[in-house]
Amino acid sequence: MSGFRFTIHATDGKARTGLIETPRGEIRTPAFMPVGTAGTVKAMLPENVRATGADIILGNTYHLMLRPGAERIARLGGLHRFMNWPRPILTDSGGFQVMSLAELRRIDERGVTFQSHIDGARHELTPERSMEIQRLLGSDIVMAFDECPALPADRARIEESMRLSMRWAARSREAFGERPGHALFGIQQGGLERDLRAESAEALKAIGFDGYAIGGLAVGEGQAAMFEVLDYAPDMLPADRPRYLMGVGKPDDIVGAVVRGVDMMDCVLPTRSGRTGQAFTRRGVVNIRNARHRDDPRPLDEACACPACRSYSRAYLHHVVRAGEIIGAMLMTWHNLQYYQDLMAGLREAIAGGRLDAFVAEFEALRAEGDI
Ligand code: GUN
Ligand code: ZN
Repeated sequence: MSGFRFTIHATDGKARTGLIETPRGEIRTPAFMPVGTAGTVKAMLPENVRATGADIILGNTYHLMLRPGAERIARLGGLHRFMNWPRPILTDSGGFQVMSLAELRRIDERGVTFQSHIDGARHELTPERSMEIQRLLGSDIVMAFDECPALPADRARIEESMRLSMRWAARSREAFGERPGHALFGIQQGGLERDLRAESAEALKAIGFDGYAIGGLAVGEGQAAMFEVLDYAPDMLPADRPRYLMGVGKPDDIVGAVVRGVDMMDCVLPTRSGRTGQAFTRRGVVNIRNARHRDDPRPLDEACACPACRSYSRAYLHHVVRAGEIIGAMLMTWHNLQYYQDLMAGLREAIAGGRLDAFVAEFEALRAEGDI
């Protein structure tokens, strides 16, 4: 497809590193996408998100259709211009968010009807409307419309839901049409059931997508069960297309996913936990609200070059987070996004250099030492 290309530069085991080229810029893979749900990566200016090393961010159909509305964003020049992020944006398709956030939701063959979590107004979302909204937003990577049950769920429910999502995937493909420079990704479902994951992958490949996501994980199954699925699921998807693991995860989830052949990920964790005082560091999680940081003049993470670590002490971060000061959320978010992007850069370099095993061993050893 013109204007959108994926090239793998090196592999190490199942892990891959490469480049997705789009008219709005390049995405180095493996890539972590900060979440900008409502037209903002919370507590960050877009240029600062870029400064951490992000090539692409994620936006949400569900939130933006409710507020401020897709047609309004289109009239104002599209999401990139509206939020001042000129680089690639991937948008999720809405069904998954409806199921977790909306009230009085109902699913049928056509799509989902629901009440807004903001004002209770009734809305409908179908594969066709989701494609239209993502077009109005100007999304560079559009996600097929899907849904999935929270886990644990019984097999019959997972099977029925997966098959519905595959019918919706075909309708998404049809409604998306041909849009040079814009990509459409299908989403594999099937819970923890290997044969259903295989059936889903075959259905998506028969339809044909520009990239393939692994959905329905990190929904309550735990890391061991997720890794079991990731031991086979990426291999079911075309090797020459980007593979995107949706909604993952903690730093060790990300490392485990990359080792298993995943190219793209997104998660609210670095931004959301930054706002509550949780920092990710090379030595594991640090809760800056803890009293042990009250008099500590050292930076959060000696090895980090972000503004929070370069110019402020743990004692200061402790103070501003505890006091509920806005700068606390800003600095903690910046640090966490910097940590995630540094981790991705480290993974990419390790794969390119054929030393991913050593990188993972070092990653685990430092975390085992703990914060001292
Ligand atoms: N975000 C996290 N998991 C999923 C999923 O399975 N589908 C969609 N659309 N978004 C997700
Ligand atoms: Zn930092």
